Amino acid sequence: MSRPESLADLARAVRENAYAPYSNFKVGAALRTPSGHVYTGCNVENVAYPEGTCAEAGAIAAMIAAGESEIAEAYVIADSPNPVPPCGGCRQKLAEFSKSDVHVTMATTDGVEKVTTVGDLLPGAFGRDHMENT
Ligand code: THU
Repeated sequence: MSRPESLADLARAVRENAYAPYSNFKVGAALRTPSGHVYTGCNVENVAYPEGTCAEAGAIAAMIAAGESEIAEAYVIADSPNPVPPCGGCRQKLAEFSKSDVHVTMATTDGVEKVTTVGDLLPGAFGRDHMENT
C-alpha cells in the first residue's frame, strides 16, 4: 500500500476531477517541492479545443500561486495502455521549474509506472542560457 499522502495517491485522486468531455482522457498530476508541499492539477478542456489545459500546467499554476517555484518530483497518471508521457509543451513547462535530474513518474491507472527525468524528457531544452546575449 502507498502512503495516504503519496504523489501517486494525490495524482490519482485529482484525476477524478478532470474536465475532459471532448477527449474523455482524464489526466492527473502531482508535484512535490523541496519544502515537501504537494500541488495537484488535472486537465481542463474547452469547447474551443486549443484553450484546454493539461494536468501538469494546472499543478504548476497551483505551485506558483502558492508562492513556490521549484519542482523536486513529479507524477502524472492517466487511463492509458502505457504510462502517459507529458506532452511537449508540458515538458517545457516542467523544465522551467526543475533541475534536469528531477524524477517524473508516468503512470497508468492500472498501476504500471515508469520513471524518467525532466532532462531525458526534453534533451537539448531551450533555456535561459540561450538568451545570454540579450
Ligand atoms: N493531457 C494532459 O493533461 N497532460 C499530458 O501530458 C498529455 C495530455 C490532456 C490534454 C487533453 O485534455 C487530453 O489529455 C487529451 O490530449
